[in-house]
Amino acid sequence: MSSLFDFETPSKYAVMGNPIAHSKSPLIHAEFAKQTNQRMQYTAMQVDIGGFDQSVGNFQANGGAGVNVTVPFKQDAYRYATRVSERAKLAAAANTLVFESNNEVYADNTDGVGLVRDLKNNLHLNIKQKKILMLGAGGAVQGVLGPLLAEKPLSIVIVNRTIDKAYMLKQRFQHLGKLSSCGYEEIDKHEAYDIVINATSTGIDGQLPPLVDTIINSDSVCYDMFYAAQDTAFVAWAKERGVAHAYDGLGMLVEQAAESFLLWRKQTPQTAPVISLIRQKMAEK
Ligand code: ATR
Repeated sequence: MSSLFDFETPSKYAVMGNPIAHSKSPLIHAEFAKQTNQRMQYTAMQVDIGGFDQSVGNFQANGGAGVNVTVPFKQDAYRYATRVSERAKLAAAANTLVFESNNEVYADNTDGVGLVRDLKNNLHLNIKQKKILMLGAGGAVQGVLGPLLAEKPLSIVIVNRTIDKAYMLKQRFQHLGKLSSCGYEEIDKHEAYDIVINATSTGIDGQLPPLVDTIINSDSVCYDMFYAAQDTAFVAWAKERGVAHAYDGLGMLVEQAAESFLLWRKQTPQTAPVISLIRQKMAEK
């Protein structure tokens, strides 16, 4: 009896954040659902600061099956969970919650794997033995350092405006690989990096962190975790300096979503057509 009912009722998911109005996640998950014939409903929910536990509790009580969590609630999501994955534990932050049948709440963090898959599978870049410069030391970096270090780069230098925050991340993750930290004035100005990743929030205002040209050469890869319809400020900065491999973070967004979808629906969706679709929709606006 109930199986027929269950089959006809779409499973409910949401992305919770503040702000959330411009989230692409509902579109991404709707596309994944279409591709894999899943009946699911996925909405964007603006949650008040300080109101995460209540919102997620209500959503769960009303039959929700899981949520994605974005800025500024990823640490709250991690704390809310009763079971956590290794990678969420490492990041001490979660972007995916799964409401399990035994009332457990499982937390995972798919941001790092999203970045790594975009770099490796979509952009065909090699991370192993590469010298990486990470710009920023906020939540975005905290989420991706573990999976990035698992790819065995030669080294990662974390540079941040507030040096203490870069140092704290170095201390926390240095058991996983060769990590160092510094301020922008202290970056080695004599050697270019293989991969420079912008994980600062400067792109939102079209700004840049204070960069010197010598951190890159024409063989460097520049990757901006931020994305936009036009070139982001960091991608434009790189291209103006002759970098052929400069990319924004739309692929990472879709890849992290695919990993959440797999956790919830046990299906691996195709990401390439969804990345193209969103790129096209952004260009039309
Ligand atoms: P997120 O969770 O998106 O990483 P965050 O935790 O607020 O957001 O971190 C924002 C990052 O962008 C930080 O590394 C921040 O540097 P500080 O730690 O010194 O604040 C960095 N950032 C923001 N504005 C910046 C600017 N104008 N120049 C350089 N770095 C900047």
